[in-house]
Amino acid sequence: EKYDFGLVGLGVMGRNFILNVADNGFSAFGHDLDVEKVNALKNEGNKAHKIDASTSIKTFVKALKQPRKIMLLVPAGKIVDSVIESLLPHIDRGDILIDGGNSFFTDTDRREEELQKRAVNFFGAGVSGGAKGARLGPSIMPGGSKSAYAHIKPIFEAVAAKYDGEPCVAYLGPKSAGNYVKMVHNGIEYGLMQLTSEIYDLLKKAGDFDNDEVHNSFKKWNEGRLQSFLVEITSQIFKQEDDESNERLIDKILDKAKQKGTGKWTSQNAMDLGIPVPTIDIAVNMREISALKSERTAADKIYDRPKVATMEKAKLEKLAEEALYFSFIVTYAQGLHVLAEASKEYGYQLDISVIAKIWRAGCIIRAALLADITEAFEKDKDLPNLLVSPNFVDKVQGSVASARELVAFGAKNGIPLPGLSNSLIYFDAYTTTRLPLNLIQAQRDYFGSHTYERLDKEGIFHTEWESK
Ligand code: 6PG
Repeated sequence: EKYDFGLVGLGVMGRNFILNVADNGFSAFGHDLDVEKVNALKNEGNKAHKIDASTSIKTFVKALKQPRKIMLLVPAGKIVDSVIESLLPHIDRGDILIDGGNSFFTDTDRREEELQKRAVNFFGAGVSGGAKGARLGPSIMPGGSKSAYAHIKPIFEAVAAKYDGEPCVAYLGPKSAGNYVKMVHNGIEYGLMQLTSEIYDLLKKAGDFDNDEVHNSFKKWNEGRLQSFLVEITSQIFKQEDDESNERLIDKILDKAKQKGTGKWTSQNAMDLGIPVPTIDIAVNMREISALKSERTAADKIYDRPKVATMEKAKLEKLAEEALYFSFIVTYAQGLHVLAEASKEYGYQLDISVIAKIWRAGCIIRAALLADITEAFEKDKDLPNLLVSPNFVDKVQGSVASARELVAFGAKNGIPLPGLSNSLIYFDAYTTTRLPLNLIQAQRDYFGSHTYERLDKEGIFHTEWESK
């Protein structure tokens, strides 16, 4: 008998995902060129798990029920193209290929167009939740042909994480909608991670918190409105002992953050769309600055830094919780704003409330806040920005003062709080009726006759400035 589901790429994510599929009662067949990985998966087959694997692409494709449902969990880039190339001679019209990696959205559009010519359905489906998520329930963000989605829906809904019984997967839109949403998910992820690292820095430098105290603060916060995967793992991280010393592992880790590109793509594309995402931008910048470790070390010796004042622990902890809450909201607001604009620009027809919904469990940015965000967008599908949702005004108003206090403290004491600062700047600018950018228009018209508009009447104006 033929198999329900095929998976190419039996690395950690692929292996875990296919086991998850089999756990849920679907028969699954894996393919990888690595014999060891194939054998390891074959060994998982038993009565409960109808699972098999092969190093031969032909055997793999032949083993699958039609229309074939083949998911690719391989590194983004050229490998995706070469896997598709190798599948093409064996698959048939109507078959479904699903790219589960973090592919760049224009690559997905190109692949979809190519495959459409052969009547093969192509999905870009972002999968979030890391190795554990893939095994036990990820959040899945599929985009592609709506009619073909019916074939993969039962499998995806079974394997996805559940929030109050609802699966964290939904058809998001045509073409690269799924990859685009996953890209922005990761941009938000970058912002939230940067913000938690700044709060850690403040607790340490201004409050003299030891690792247990940092652990305790994040743990306590995770029991309240800040409840989220990233706050939870942050609390755990401060408990982790180092095997090679008597210290905590966190104090032994080099402060250079790597990146695979999805955060940067979010910033780049947001800029192309003209949508500001300064918290995400600065999170990318900080990874870049962090990489300049030797330059930072040399520059540190050149300049004096203010001596950091101490803040009373309980006071700092309260301010930090409120500032983190405020800046988390602002980060989601920025990311969702990009999605709304991308939806118009690329014709994705995204429903933001559905996206917030499938982010409530399984993914890296899952958070209690996402239930509130879902509600806000369910109430008003065309909400221009989360910050103006009636559901959020009190939350933001009640926490912004603490962000101000900490940003001011950081500036005065030489502690960089770029994510927090940019979140505050974004909020202050977005909520200001009259910004000084009338001057920029005047300057542009002055030196380049670029024209300006007026507050008091319609039209386009130019002034011969020097003659006045
Ligand atoms: C997820 C993650 C994942 C991503 C890592 C690493 O949702 O499970 O976003 O897709 O690969 O977070 O990203 P960076 O290497 O760019 O930090």
